Amino acid sequence: MKNSKYLVLGGTGKTGRRVVQRLEALGHQVRSASRASKPAFDWSKPEQWEAALEGMDKAYVTYYPDLAVPGSKEAITRLVEIAEVTGLKKLVLLSGRGEPEAQECELIALNSNIDTVIVRVDWFMQNFSEYFFLDPIKAGVLAAPQAETRIPFIDLDDVAEVALKALLEDCYSNEVLELTGPDLINFSEVVSEISRATGRDIQYVPVSIEEYTEMLGALEVPEDFIWLITYLFTHVLDGRNASTTNTIEEVLGRPAKSFSTFAKEMATTGVWDSAIPVTSGE
Ligand SMILES: NC(=O)c1ccc[n+]([C@@H]2O[C@H](COP(=O)([O-])OP(=O)(O)OC[C@H]3O[C@@H](n4cnc5c(N)ncnc54)[C@H](OP(=O)(O)O)[C@@H]3O)[C@@H](O)[C@H]2O)c1
Repeated sequence: MKNSKYLVLGGTGKTGRRVVQRLEALGHQVRSASRASKPAFDWSKPEQWEAALEGMDKAYVTYYPDLAVPGSKEAITRLVEIAEVTGLKKLVLLSGRGEPEAQECELIALNSNIDTVIVRVDWFMQNFSEYFFLDPIKAGVLAAPQAETRIPFIDLDDVAEVALKALLEDCYSNEVLELTGPDLINFSEVVSEISRATGRDIQYVPVSIEEYTEMLGALEVPEDFIWLITYLFTHVLDGRNASTTNTIEEVLGRPAKSFSTFAKEMATTGVWDSAIPVTSGE
């Protein structure tokens, strides 16, 4: 239905911008909203939310920074209440797999009067190419806790394709789509894949959660981000998500992207080139 108007909250973010690109490529009317857009949308300023939702038929919602943080339930409750009043017909909410707090937010949306699809995903492959693991990879040393945990990392183009279908197609309705990548791999295997793809010697260093937290503190990472990362390493990357689903294949009719393919593709872009300048030796 080309007459529908689409709102993407976090439209400049990792998944949001991929959803915006796809909707626009299909000729849909899209309002990409975040703190700098007009109208603006800031999760800490509920007085802005009605203007962002006004006139919108369907929305893809990414909560920042994470549905696991305190205050997310209240925010999703309020957003849904406003969206019911403004007449939103469909809500696609990005959620995190294995996060009890995120699952509470999912229920708030699913129990609303709005047709809701939850896109519940595992850890992003793009955490290594667009987020907090990029700098360590460029530097050649990735230190991270939970060395034993196997994670079904997921590609964000796959996530965006599924979110797009959930927005566009009525057959996806009041349900949870739980998405994972196809391989269960640990951090050591991730680093091996990236080393192989780039031809660089990148090391994985297993550390305890306490050592990792101290390291982030020494790097002057903001306290709330350290809290979130510590929470994720303690309560999500504890092995609970060490299983895969075939939802991507069911929805898209093709297999989910493997980490190996992702690594080969990203290596050709130069995103993982060494942060250390190469000297001529003269
Ligand atoms: N990383 C993972 O492995 C993982 C796994 C599962 C689920 N998730 C979920 O993914 C979600 C994040 O989605 P994403 O990665 O696509 O987004 P993202 O890349 O983190 O981007 C953040 C987006 O939110 C906007 N933003 C930042 N602060 C904001 C604020 N205070 N109010 C309103 N908008 C704000 C940013 O734009 P401006 O800066 O312009 O405002 C940007 O558009 C989180 O809920 C997280 O739980 C992540």
